[in-house]
Amino acid sequence: MKRLAILASGSGSNAEKIMEHFQHSDKAEIALVASNKTEAFVLERARKFGVPTFTFSRKEMDAGMLLEKLQAENIDWVILAGFLLKIPDHLTHAYSDKMVNIHPALLPKYGGKGMYGSFVHAAVKDAGDTETGITIHLVNEHYDEGKIIFQASTPVSLEDTPETIADKVHALEHAHFPRVIGELVGV
Ligand code: GRF
Repeated sequence: MKRLAILASGSGSNAEKIMEHFQHSDKAEIALVASNKTEAFVLERARKFGVPTFTFSRKEMDAGMLLEKLQAENIDWVILAGFLLKIPDHLTHAYSDKMVNIHPALLPKYGGKGMYGSFVHAAVKDAGDTETGITIHLVNEHYDEGKIIFQASTPVSLEDTPETIADKVHALEHAHFPRVIGELVGV
């Protein structure tokens, strides 16, 4: 059984889809949902699935407490699903090639520091792009620069707003992320 942990800072709709996907798997399980926000809705979603939760501050993460927890729980893979803190190097090294992120744009466009959530979709709209999409990639010590595993795109029309773009991107994420994780971890 592969043991997966999800790190998320917010609502966790992707986390929910992933928990649903692996709920009855006998090859992989979501063994932990961890968040830097004690009030993040993702924690409630985890409880609904009976998945253990863990919260930590940025300081604690940087001091190694999150890695300790992941190791104590024998976590094989770390999934970032809307996790907003920069991952410290000791963590990316410990899980090199075993940590995956989803980014709500077609990297290398609209990546890097400050490019998350609505900022990404507003930038796509401002640029007048005719498509956007999602990127699933491995995580290294640089924001959004790890090896790209999968991309999918969706058209953007003149009528689209950052909000409707966000909805389209979320739909793509939900449709693909759980399956791509399964393929990546080999289950
Ligand atoms: C997603 O759009 C993901 O790409 C980004 O953060 C968002 C998280 O959404 N990194 P949710 O919390 O899964 O609903």
